[in-house]
Amino acid sequence: MKIEFKAIASVAVVALSALMMGSCTADADSSGLEYMPDMYRSPAIEPYVDYGEIRGRENMDVKMKMSAMTPPAGTVPFYGTDSATVSLMLPYFRKANVAFRETHGMYGADLTSMDEYTLAVNDMNPLKLTADNAEGMFKTGKELYTAMCQHCHGEKGDGNGPMVASGAYAGVPNYADRATLSDGQMFYSIYYGKGAMGSHASQLNKKEIWTLVHYVRKFQNADYGKFDTNGLMMAAAVAMGADTTTAVK
Ligand code: HEC
Repeated sequence: MKIEFKAIASVAVVALSALMMGSCTADADSSGLEYMPDMYRSPAIEPYVDYGEIRGRENMDVKMKMSAMTPPAGTVPFYGTDSATVSLMLPYFRKANVAFRETHGMYGADLTSMDEYTLAVNDMNPLKLTADNAEGMFKTGKELYTAMCQHCHGEKGDGNGPMVASGAYAGVPNYADRATLSDGQMFYSIYYGKGAMGSHASQLNKKEIWTLVHYVRKFQNADYGKFDTNGLMMAAAVAMGADTTTAVK
């Protein structure tokens, strides 16, 4: 009995040390021998990649397989119960111009041939600027502008941002030269992009874009957002029925 136990014990010790030695390697970066690699390396399933359609090209082999599906048409994100906020954040009702299909990578978007940019002339900023909210609005506007727009449009909105000054980029307008643009057209251009300016639809939500529209107005009229003692804005009514000669065709 005693002898048998010793034999088993020594075999076990040898086996165990062999196992432990086998797990080590001289290479400090190596994980050594992996007995159960499945536990270290999970299979790379990327649920948010739609392998069935990439940049407008269909891949029929994988198209019908399960991946993260687009939500049913008409689905809107939940933005709480405040009706003003909800209506502000609803999907933008104007369609992208056909010109955007190639230039702005809007593959699969429902593009109409109608020039919705021209129609946007009549759209007013639904985010109202008042004596009470102006300070906060411009503060947020400045933060967004500094992060997303200033490198092209410049600190003063004159179109001379660092990108333009470096000579890498040209054609950025001075906002003051486009003072006749309507709120809606500005929104449209920021949302879908225009000419050499790309779409900002994925970087900014609708409230942020309308905030920026207010901020851009300040470059066009120094009195914009300043209120007199009666709570009326000092800047004259800005830009309705605007010049459409700069329309994206
Ligand atoms: C990559 C450089 C670049 C960036 C970043 C950029 N823009 Fe522009 N923007 C342009 C250019 C170029 C034009 C002129 C487009 C045209 O009229 O062909 C333009 C035009 C505009 C116009 C006039 C649109 C019209 O309908 O005539 C507005 C308003 C505007 N930009 C606001 C913004 C705001 C706000 C941001 C930040 C969210 C921004 N831009 C970011 C380059 C840029």
